[in-house]
Amino acid sequence: MILILDFGGQYNQLIARRVREQNVYCEVHTALSMEKIRAFKPEGIILTGGPCSVYEEGSLLPPQEIFNLGVPILGICYGAQALAQVLGGKVCSGQSEYGKTELELLSASKLFAGVEKKSVVWMSHTDRIFTAPNNFSVIGATTSCPIAAMEDSARNFYAVQFHPEVVHTEAGAKIFSNFVDICGCKRDWKMSSFVAETISQLKNKIGDGKVLCALSGGVDSSVAAVLLSKAVGQNLTCVFVDHGLLRKNEAAQVEAVFKNFDLNFIQVDAGERFLAKLRGVIEPERKRKIIGEEFIRVFEEVSKKIGAVDYLVQGTIYPDVIESGLGKSAVIKSHHNVGGLPDFVDFKEIVEPLRLLFKDEVRQVGRELGLPENIVSRQPFPGPGLGIRIIGEVTAQKVKIVQEADAIYREEISKAGVKDLAQYFAALTNMRSVGVMGDGRTYDYAVALRAVLTSDFMTAKAAQIPWDVLNAAANRIVNEVKGVNRVLYDCTSKPPATIEFE
Ligand code: XMP
Repeated sequence: MILILDFGGQYNQLIARRVREQNVYCEVHTALSMEKIRAFKPEGIILTGGPCSVYEEGSLLPPQEIFNLGVPILGICYGAQALAQVLGGKVCSGQSEYGKTELELLSASKLFAGVEKKSVVWMSHTDRIFTAPNNFSVIGATTSCPIAAMEDSARNFYAVQFHPEVVHTEAGAKIFSNFVDICGCKRDWKMSSFVAETISQLKNKIGDGKVLCALSGGVDSSVAAVLLSKAVGQNLTCVFVDHGLLRKNEAAQVEAVFKNFDLNFIQVDAGERFLAKLRGVIEPERKRKIIGEEFIRVFEEVSKKIGAVDYLVQGTIYPDVIESGLGKSAVIKSHHNVGGLPDFVDFKEIVEPLRLLFKDEVRQVGRELGLPENIVSRQPFPGPGLGIRIIGEVTAQKVKIVQEADAIYREEISKAGVKDLAQYFAALTNMRSVGVMGDGRTYDYAVALRAVLTSDFMTAKAAQIPWDVLNAAANRIVNEVKGVNRVLYDCTSKPPATIEFE
């Protein structure tokens, strides 16, 4: 396995993902003792990026002894500087580099085997290595960073100032592939290993305790539910809360699917209760927190009825965790299953078996578990549902409008056979404008249509939906949905927008 020592950077879980893509098992850990590091018996170690400066007092540095373990080590960004600092090099503040930069390779290196002499890399730093430690040679530079990559080839220590884990680094995958080869990893780890390991960990942790799973019918919570049912069998109860903010006919569809699985399934109709809590609330974060809290309260009530439930399972995945603000990362949105949780949750523990996976990896796990393709390839639907696709106050009338408009849009997309969209939906703006229908004036809402292309949902491009399809959807929406007289298409990417509107 490869051990990833985490120093708090934004992209650290992406490093794990890149290693997993090489079919090599890895784990990400913060501030491990040498004893624990040894216990992992790593075949290689990666030191991640991080927001601090290595020369600041109290900054987290890797233990000196890792350099005596005899295993290859790769330092990335802060990790590169930490490696330099611990081995006697010098790190200072330099000229900031942010974004795409050209890296020039200066000499041959096993780390860069097969990489072009000049290639684009992703930089994000102010500090840099000024003096390489003894026995290191500089193997790559950019115009503002003369030591952008260095190595001690005898001991297989490598340091790169750029981020090979970010897709914008053209040779990123190649660099990770080279590193796992340098480590001598067998590349025999697969998603099926993840499934087996997770089920066994869940069995050990939960034993014969009772578990409640928050099931939304989406990919993530469905995969989490099936993983748990394999681990604890009938001790699992899946609770599907219909918060009244689901897509048209969704509650009935979810029930139909899960009734066929061998698990306890309870549906709670809580639409009115959620609407009452949301009355008059317009601030998106407030809406998210209210929905998150109400969910937990419903689960707590169900759990009391079942009695002695210790664990609550959620299908939280990695992008939810990062965007809700992890460590020093900024809060973009409080995903209701992470940052939207109330401070007090009446369960012994919340279990999130998919917390470190990206969406496409969760889909792979779902296939491994034998979930039907119509669930595995479903487009994501956020926990707070239409509550965050209605800009401003949520009312029963607005929910109905967005449900109808969204159903029409999805029908038209599917009729036209538009493929490869990661997510597409209708949202209701809080803009009303003047229109004319028949011979009369209207003053109604504008619906916004959105469709995006993405694989990790961290960044996304607006999809170019054929005009005929948009036109057909827009015509049907204004004609069939009462209260709408205008349809807009959102062509912004993420960033600067997000996929959802709130
Ligand atoms: P954004 O809008 O942040 O969304 O670009 C990224 C992805 O996350 C989904 N999303 C959520 N999923 N709980 C979830 O389970 C949430 O609170 C939540 N908010 C956004 C969104 O649909 C997209 O796929």
